[in-house]
Amino acid sequence: MSQALEERPFGQQKLSLAPMVDKSDRDWRWVMRRISRKTLLYTEMITAPAALRGNRDRVLGFDPEEKPLVLQLGWDEADKLVDAAKIAEDFGYDEINLNCGCPSDKVQQHDFGACLMARPQHVAHLVEAMASATSLPITVKNRIGIRSQKRDISLERYEDLLDFVDQVSQAGCRKFTVHSRIAILEGLSPRENRDIPPLQPDFVYRLKEERPDFFIEINGGYKSVEQIDDALHHVDGVMLGRVALDQPWLLKNADQKWFGESTPSLTRRQVLEAVWPYYERRLSEGASRGLLVQPLMNLFAGEPGAKAWKRHLTEALSGPAKDFLAHASQAVSFMDPKLLDS
Ligand SMILES: Cc1cc2nc3c(=O)[nH]c(=O)nc-3n(C[C@H](O)[C@H](O)[C@H](O)COP(=O)(O)O)c2cc1C
Repeated sequence: MSQALEERPFGQQKLSLAPMVDKSDRDWRWVMRRISRKTLLYTEMITAPAALRGNRDRVLGFDPEEKPLVLQLGWDEADKLVDAAKIAEDFGYDEINLNCGCPSDKVQQHDFGACLMARPQHVAHLVEAMASATSLPITVKNRIGIRSQKRDISLERYEDLLDFVDQVSQAGCRKFTVHSRIAILEGLSPRENRDIPPLQPDFVYRLKEERPDFFIEINGGYKSVEQIDDALHHVDGVMLGRVALDQPWLLKNADQKWFGESTPSLTRRQVLEAVWPYYERRLSEGASRGLLVQPLMNLFAGEPGAKAWKRHLTEALSGPAKDFLAHASQAVSFMDPKLLDS
């Protein structure tokens, strides 16, 4: 019999990078892994049916160097989640995370994502089903609450969040990543739902206070090292989303700062020297250069020459495909050596 879920070791990293559809793809993760060896990485949300049908290597494949890596699944039917979880285990993922935070209309039509917060018993059932079928840790990412006029639901009090966590923890789940704003299920786009409902980190801090045995990770709006440090006085971990897309170099020194590593992190030059041969391989595997270039675009964000860097990469894209890497790698020669070597 497999180990009870509550006893399975899950990633206890102080820092993780968020699941982000169309952004946290394998190549972005590979590049981010060059910047931080220790930060926990998440895939984009993959629906259970997408994991089951179609080209599995394309949907679920990753490079072992991306690990530790969590697969985020979305769906509301136990049988499909179980099958997807088994496949994820075979692929070598370290953990499975169930999406209980996405408010998009498409996701709501299938009754998963944020609207699962209204069905904590069902979430517990889904977690238990995946735990019984695999030996992986199963974790949950949720909002602090939800509001839906159509469904006549208002779960916006701290007690509602606590009740959700308590019920789901009955299935053995011990790790919750909480986006500290409610999801409003009608009238706001997913993008607006990441900005308009106010952040309420106090809910998440209180949750950690009242459930000290659970690993509580906070998410939403973290943009600086100081803010992360401050949050870590209250909770176990911080998950970063958009800031990691916009300013990936914020993670430089994350390993020394939050994971006690003494080996220095790579410089930008070293990151890029690793990237080109990897990209050569990925291009030979059929990866799109338009996607490959994305993780590099903001490598110099906020620094002199950042615009020229982006322009050069964009020009490399418009040239002949066979020259793409040679052209893109030349962009380095336009950058200040001090920035490249720090
Ligand atoms: C482009 C984009 C795609 C996202 N896709 C997902 C997703 O697949 N699963 C998920 O749980 N959250 C998703 N999110 C939400 C993020 O994981 C995170 O909760 C949110 O952006 C708030 O964190 P931040 O303020 O640090 O960006 C996405 C966010 C963005 C910006």
